[in-house]
Amino acid sequence: MNTQHQTLTTKIQQAQQGGGLDRIEKQHQKKKLTARERVTYLLDQGSFEEIGMLVTHRTTDFGMDKEQYYGDGVITGYGTIDGRLIYIFAQDFTVFGGSLSETHAEKICKIMDMAMNNKAPIIGLNDSGGARIQEGVRSLGGYADIFYKNVQASGVIPQLSAIMGPCAGGAVYSPAMTDFTMMVEASSYMFVTGPNVVKTVTNETVTSEALGGASTHASKSGVAHITTANDVACLDSMKQLLSYLPQNYTEKPAKLAYTHTDETRPELNTIIPNHPNKPYDMHAVIEGSIDAGSFYEIHKEYAENIIVGFARMGGRSIGIIANQPMVLAGVLDVNSAKKAARFTRVCDCFNIPLLVLVDVPGFLPGTDQEWNGIIVHGAKLLYALSEATVPKVTVITRKAYGGAYDVMNSKHIGADLNYAWPSAEIAVMGAKGASEIIFRKEIAAAEDPAATLAQKEKEYAEKFANPYTAAARGFIDEVIVPQDTRRKLLKAFGMLENKSLKMPDKKHGNIPL
Ligand code: HXC
Repeated sequence: MNTQHQTLTTKIQQAQQGGGLDRIEKQHQKKKLTARERVTYLLDQGSFEEIGMLVTHRTTDFGMDKEQYYGDGVITGYGTIDGRLIYIFAQDFTVFGGSLSETHAEKICKIMDMAMNNKAPIIGLNDSGGARIQEGVRSLGGYADIFYKNVQASGVIPQLSAIMGPCAGGAVYSPAMTDFTMMVEASSYMFVTGPNVVKTVTNETVTSEALGGASTHASKSGVAHITTANDVACLDSMKQLLSYLPQNYTEKPAKLAYTHTDETRPELNTIIPNHPNKPYDMHAVIEGSIDAGSFYEIHKEYAENIIVGFARMGGRSIGIIANQPMVLAGVLDVNSAKKAARFTRVCDCFNIPLLVLVDVPGFLPGTDQEWNGIIVHGAKLLYALSEATVPKVTVITRKAYGGAYDVMNSKHIGADLNYAWPSAEIAVMGAKGASEIIFRKEIAAAEDPAATLAQKEKEYAEKFANPYTAAARGFIDEVIVPQDTRRKLLKAFGMLENKSLKMPDKKHGNIPL
């Protein structure tokens, strides 16, 4: 063995030992792991097989030929997570800031091709200063090659991204086109243009954290689906997320073993408050309906007036969309419609049945909403739910008013089973507003307008603020006692397990983007 080979062997051994699992576990609270530690921690022990370890960059400009590193700043390969095949790349910030060279991009593309050819998920752990500045357009081309493959893979295999350091410039668009983007709090940020450019162009002074940190993207922009306190928590969360997803669009997510017991949930009987305008936490309805402790919430801090996330129902993976009466009375607005539409499409891509829990007073009125396009954004959710061919089940717990009744997985847009609790109110609008409009003249002419309005309101409420008119038409399949919700849902999703429905032949639909 010559000296060069000896050095290489030593380097490989050092690299492979760098992230021993024991050491990583001991450093549980450490903020930033190295790229190799991340891969080691995420994958099943001993399962990682590296590909392209000896690749180095080709450029000789700016003295780059004097400084070359094996792997060129990205670790790529395959392995297993809970026994399932996955492909992975992890950028190494210690090599030219994890920046993307032509060869770095080629390594990522190679692993993406393998993931596609073998129909298994691809995971990207991003930690990079963006395009390798010394390589100019070659690195831009490398990014575009990755973007193109992201689009080819979209809807075929799950694509998961974690941002575990910087992610600047065009680098943001690959994660943005994957199915989920996770961010580590205080150590990661994403922006198209950084604080310096912002200052130059708009004269705004802003920190990296405020501009594109994890909490900004979790609560303001919605770019981040999940945020975690540190690297280890991020990788743990990614494992959990993956457990709800199948290997590819032709498969269903793995079903966990589940032993049926007494499935009645009496605690659901007392959730709805006596007063129709009093809020309650929809999480309690979710928890009372799903397998214990199985809820994995997505976009927790973004558009909190709607809740979305994965859960298990008798061991099956399901997606949940639920209005949240605790925030803005659970109205639909621009952001909540976008959030739920995106989630619907992820579930539909990957054969994950949908449960929609409804308590919605309507769309949020106002110039802000209209000027920001509530029409087109609301249409996204309407379109996505109408288009979804997975099993779709609805439970109306309280309000289902106006257009929001239609949008929230009504029978009319293809829901398979629609349940309502006895507390459901299904109508064009609330009794007060409706009475003020249709009995306006009568109320104005009355001796006691207030008493007349109250009387008319009562009449309207008796006629429409219930689930029975809708049930008489077949728009609601059954009015169920809340405590039976879980029992009904277990049977419903079991019955719908082999649902098979195809949209009409077309190139692709034209969702109002
Ligand atoms: C080459 C880079 C680099 C890059 C960092 N480095 N970014 N090398 N190309 N893009 C190198 C640094 O020179 C340094 O090398 C090492 O990585 C660590 O960087 P530091 O600056 O010391 O680290 P830190 O202080 O933590 O700052 C990290 C950073 C900063 C904020 C990411 O490095 C930075 O601003 N980098 C440039 C970001 C950027 O503008 N990228 C291009 C975006 S445009 P030494 O040898 O000193 O250790 C883009 C277009 C893509 O990406 C478009 C696709 C469509």
